[in-house]
Amino acid sequence: MSGNRFAARVDAIAAFQVMELMDRARRLEARGVDVVHMEVGEPDFISADPILEAGRAAISAGHTGYTSALGLPALRQAIAAYYGRWHGVALDPERVVVTAGASGALMLLAALLLEPGDGLLLADPGYPCNRYIPLFAGAQPQLVPVAADTAYQLDGAGVAAAWSAHTRGVLVASPANPTGSVLARKALLELIGQVQARDGWLLVDEIYQGLVYPAELEMLPDAARHGGVASDRVGSVLQLLTDAAAPVYVLNSFSKYFGMTGWRIGWMVVPEQAVAPLERLAQNFYIAPSSIGQHAALAALGDPAMVVHEQRRHAFCARRNLLVAGLRELGFGVPRVPEGAFYVYAELPEQLRARGSRAFCERLLDEHGVAATPGTDFGTYRAGDHVRFAYTADLARIETALERISAAMPT
Ligand SMILES: Cc1ncc(COP(=O)(O)O)c(C=O)c1O
Repeated sequence: MSGNRFAARVDAIAAFQVMELMDRARRLEARGVDVVHMEVGEPDFISADPILEAGRAAISAGHTGYTSALGLPALRQAIAAYYGRWHGVALDPERVVVTAGASGALMLLAALLLEPGDGLLLADPGYPCNRYIPLFAGAQPQLVPVAADTAYQLDGAGVAAAWSAHTRGVLVASPANPTGSVLARKALLELIGQVQARDGWLLVDEIYQGLVYPAELEMLPDAARHGGVASDRVGSVLQLLTDAAAPVYVLNSFSKYFGMTGWRIGWMVVPEQAVAPLERLAQNFYIAPSSIGQHAALAALGDPAMVVHEQRRHAFCARRNLLVAGLRELGFGVPRVPEGAFYVYAELPEQLRARGSRAFCERLLDEHGVAATPGTDFGTYRAGDHVRFAYTADLARIETALERISAAMPT
């Protein structure tokens, strides 16, 4: 019997309900039913041409071996230069650690920072892996309910109230999944102050960096202009830090803005003293991130690819505007226009709440051909009242989805 026993920690990790919905959607499609996919958290665009070409060139040139565990030096330098050019941050490339996606980065950070029993504060709702990966390391995710009044984000007061004797740090995401909300400069400064006052650390998941839509968050052609923008937002928490040893860790990835989900390349920016232990962990966990993926990622940061990423960002913005207006018209609650990522976290109209978001999503898919994700995938706080719609479908398909959602409304 014991040969078939799995470690108890596995039981604590739940499957994504959205996967079941995706299987259901595939079965429907196999029967010829048309489904609008708004459940998936990845861009519907394939990687931009310069990225594809660089990937092919890397294979042709035989770049098929291991790289340094910390990543190709040229990529670490290019990432540092990207922060300089687009976010006005002078960053030492030595603090950049290239990883196997942001997921790989969080596994390394969980191994680096968390002792069994340590508490980690996270917003509820939030991206489920951001609590399951620390849980796997033996830590205790401490979910703090957030709502529209704090832009669905943790703030200084929320952290101060939730911090307990075993809490070691805070993990926030900006822009966030599933709410698309962006942390204000003031809230970020408060969070930094709170963790430093408690000798803890702050992890900032910036994987949707670049996918931001209000005018003041436009990516600017050069860093010099950045300082001139009146804004209560920052493109990266790094803009608020002057000390390279401050206990703030940034997680990022080529998956979303750069449209490279399947290449599995992400990165971290870490305090300088953390680089050497992270290198040891990466060497032992997976040796190095994909070499071909890293060569392709280098092209993702070049001007020709950046032009494509920016065009796509504008397309996402138009989709967001259409979807938010349409959902509001149908009676869904969207109290704040989501400023980033590609999600709308909408509250079900009152008359649909009794049966809950999971039942609604199943009915929406089975009877109306729209796949969306129930809020219950992202936490427990009012999760049954919410649905996440990803605008990873073009405008025409979003129009179709809105018509179908309208048909699913009680009369
Ligand atoms: C908030 C957030 N963080 C991290 C990830 C992981 O992304 P990846 O491992 O592809 O870089 C995702 C993916 O959806 C996400 O939504």
